[in-house]
Amino acid sequence: MLRVKNLSVYYDKAIALDNVSIDVEEGEAVCVLGANGAGKTTLLNAIFNVIPKKGKIFFNDIDITDLATHKIVKMGIVYVPDKRTIFNELSVYENLEISAWEIIKNKGKKHFVKNLDAVFEHFTNLEEKQSLKAGYLSGGEQQMLSIAQGLIRAPKMFVMDEPTAGLSPKLMNAVFDIVYFMKKQGITVLIVEQNVNKTLMATDRAYIMEVGKIKESGNSKDFLQSDSIKKAYLGG
Ligand SMILES: Nc1ncnc2c1ncn2[C@@H]1O[C@H](COP(=O)(O)OP(=O)(O)OP(=O)(O)O)[C@@H](O)[C@H]1O
Ligand SMILES: [Mg+2]
Repeated sequence: MLRVKNLSVYYDKAIALDNVSIDVEEGEAVCVLGANGAGKTTLLNAIFNVIPKKGKIFFNDIDITDLATHKIVKMGIVYVPDKRTIFNELSVYENLEISAWEIIKNKGKKHFVKNLDAVFEHFTNLEEKQSLKAGYLSGGEQQMLSIAQGLIRAPKMFVMDEPTAGLSPKLMNAVFDIVYFMKKQGITVLIVEQNVNKTLMATDRAYIMEVGKIKESGNSKDFLQSDSIKKAYLGG
């Protein structure tokens, strides 16, 4: 579904991504793990054409390498970056409505309400607080809202950058529950994380990055049982 071929990124003269290739098949949940500064965010920003890069990127065999970010998103790949994208002055409901404006425009409000119901089923605290200004939500709730903003668009593929950073263990589990939920819905997932064990448990396959390179790739379950890999790359 997503094919990244020989991607390289330079910041000034320093190489941040060195000939990185990854594949994500339809229906899979794939993670990219690695320490601070490994190049994980750079990889996602390069895929979504937020930064200049060398290499090729295909989505469903269509070359999206040079496509504008909003056009990539329009193809059905949602990107939830590590920085939250919510509007503090708008209510929770309005934040979700804004994310779904294209659905409302093209398919009507009814379709939005249907998607909203499905999202609220998994984010009951957001449903309770839908009239509250998003700026008043806790950090964890704001993170949930960022994810909900992506889900409301009913994407084919969901890409997220460290969605559990700064969350309590309870909210972390809620995020990983969402990964399971997405998989059940047939949404393909690419998740960048530092939370090694929980991410490996929630995903099918993993890539491990170290200073701009993919060092290992394989089944998440195998990595989960491999102490040597965890020791070598993942601080475990
Ligand atoms: N805009 C930039 N200009 C120069 N160097 C940058 C820029 N953005 C990132 N870097 C450098 O590129 C490398 C990779 O950074 P990146 O943010 O992709 O890492 P990461 O794996 O996402 O780390 P973290 O887990 O801390 O989010 C780091 O050495 C970082 O300092
Ligand atoms: Mg990062």
